[in-house]
Amino acid sequence: MENFLKNKKIILGITGSIAAYKIYELIKLLRDAGAEIFPVMTEKATYFVTPLSVEIACGKKVFLDMFEEPLSHIELAQRGDIFLVAPATANLINKYASGIADDLLSTTLLAFQGPVIIAPAMNWRMYKASQVQRSIDYLRSLGTIFVGPEEGSLACGEEGPGRLASINKIFETVLYSLTEKDLEKERFIITAGPTRQYIDPIRFITNKSSGKMGYALAKIAKRRGASVTLISGPTAIEPPEVDKFIRVETTSEMLTQVMENINEATTLLMSAAPLDFEPEKIFSKKIEKKSITSIPLKLCPDILKEVSKLKKRPFTVGFAAESGINIERAKKKFNEKSVDMIILNDIMQNDRGMGSDTNEVIIIYKKANKFIEEKIPLQSKENVAFIILSKIKEIKIGK
Ligand SMILES: Cc1cc2nc3c(=O)[nH]c(=O)nc-3n(C[C@H](O)[C@H](O)[C@H](O)COP(=O)(O)O)c2cc1C
Repeated sequence: MENFLKNKKIILGITGSIAAYKIYELIKLLRDAGAEIFPVMTEKATYFVTPLSVEIACGKKVFLDMFEEPLSHIELAQRGDIFLVAPATANLINKYASGIADDLLSTTLLAFQGPVIIAPAMNWRMYKASQVQRSIDYLRSLGTIFVGPEEGSLACGEEGPGRLASINKIFETVLYSLTEKDLEKERFIITAGPTRQYIDPIRFITNKSSGKMGYALAKIAKRRGASVTLISGPTAIEPPEVDKFIRVETTSEMLTQVMENINEATTLLMSAAPLDFEPEKIFSKKIEKKSITSIPLKLCPDILKEVSKLKKRPFTVGFAAESGINIERAKKKFNEKSVDMIILNDIMQNDRGMGSDTNEVIIIYKKANKFIEEKIPLQSKENVAFIILSKIKEIKIGK
């Protein structure tokens, strides 16, 4: 697991909501990412989760009582890089908006001067109450970050807005808030996933690409402040939140979308695996089993080649998924498609490349007209994405 939150200190406030039990999963994600967590619970929160289990999950003493260590609220408030309240009750939100400090959590929160993230959770009637809405609006105007709530079925059996945001979304909001925005000037187009080429209305050919590498690049680029247009083929995984998400099916559609958006981009990352051949003919009706013996194929448009013909194009990164490591072939592709960087990976092993959560790649680029090859050892696709983006930044600054 990556260490994106290494050396980061998070004050985690837990309040008296039925959603409090979900906090263990979030604590695990935050700790796995390297964060140090200082948990503070309200008295009412202890009806829902026990201080003992929160303490064990966090590996840190739970702060509960203002008078146990008389200056803990001031001392604690200076300790955190960020203050996250999850789940946050209507009561806590209204108190914070009014500056009320009548227990350890609300007092520490008032004394805290860094970024505050609040993840509300409550019944929709409470959420829609004007008092709560007014508090949220006011706190937003002060810079408080709200994540969620979501629409959905609530613990009370009703439907509506009030459900705690997904743990992944809260985690991503924390990561976003704590990540340096060093790619703020970049506008990326990232392609991801496979494409499909139809044989008849229900049958198609495709490949094993999952979209994970492209989605990881989009997620990390966004986290580092870039604006991101993600053009994705069909995938089974949830896309990250980006500025513009475009779903496509075929290689031609992907080409059209790349071309339509390319003028706005500073960098193009072609991490998709678009099919490079398609059936010569698409049958308009489902083909009878007996009527077919073979499927003649023709070449699909070559997106990188089309991009290389443009007079003005952004910094372009091609991805080469190969059976085995063939650096010479990748270099040939580099020259033929006149890209600025090629990311080469071996698709013949299960723990890397298409479909897997990890990847090992070779970054190939040119410096003073000479090829440079850098091997990035096997690690999570998010880590690999971080390294690729840093390399792009380094090369662009050097240019
Ligand atoms: C079973 C149960 C579930 C509750 N769930 C919520 C909730 O999800 N959100 C909320 O704002 N209040 C909820 N409440 C009400 C709060 O616990 C109550 O307003 C309390 O005073 C909050 O205290 P605190 O903000 O100091 O933790 C619930 C109460 C009970 C008894």
